[in-house]
Amino acid sequence: MNQDTLIVSNWKMNLNFDSATQLINKIKKIKFPNSSKIKNIVCPQFLLIPQISKLVMRSKIILGSQDCHHKISGSFTGDSSLELLKHSERRICHYENNMMVRKKVDFVLANKLNPIVCVGESLKERQNGKYLETISKQLDECLPEKLKSIVIAYEPVWSIGSGSTPTFKEISEINDYTNNFLCKQKKIQKVSFLYGGSVNSKNFFDIMNHCNVNGALIGGSSIKFDEINKILLYA
Ligand code: PGA
Repeated sequence: MNQDTLIVSNWKMNLNFDSATQLINKIKKIKFPNSSKIKNIVCPQFLLIPQISKLVMRSKIILGSQDCHHKISGSFTGDSSLELLKHSERRICHYENNMMVRKKVDFVLANKLNPIVCVGESLKERQNGKYLETISKQLDECLPEKLKSIVIAYEPVWSIGSGSTPTFKEISEINDYTNNFLCKQKKIQKVSFLYGGSVNSKNFFDIMNHCNVNGALIGGSSIKFDEINKILLYA
């Protein structure tokens, strides 16, 4: 595979100052083989970002944010003006729709940062066969045209934190569909396709090998050093 492998650790609302420091210090000590093409991206919760950003300086770890507001400043109580990321838990818990996601994507791109746009269907949509409709609508409404590149994370809502994952065939279908859609309909030149949802050190390698993905977005397993260590070392 010519593209880099993106391993995105989404720490969500986990870890405190001590445990986050311990985890990042251990991750910094991992010795990657010279051949490694990993991009190791860590997304802490907002209050941890200043501390983690100091700790990752001069390391190869890339700092990401789990969300941001689509404006640089203003009277938005509780929101944070920052970089990247979109997530279905934001869609569900904060009632964000595709239009909001699109505003954030535009804002992030205008600020020369790289968004990771998450798409994925609900269990009902998977069961009633409407999942491709949902995903094409999300891709269509959340993304502008003619980008040089974009990172998409396919995260079926029913798989997040549940321990269930789609089959390799199901992930591959969405991978092909997304690449075709973005190339043809949106004229986007390069798509990095990640899978997210109950990824762990046991299923990661099979998903990578069978589904031709460019990496993974990892929640629960990313805050356990033994798990993320195995994933990073052998990705
Ligand atoms: P999970 O979360 O790995 O705990 O399922 C994935 C995500 O939502 O980022």
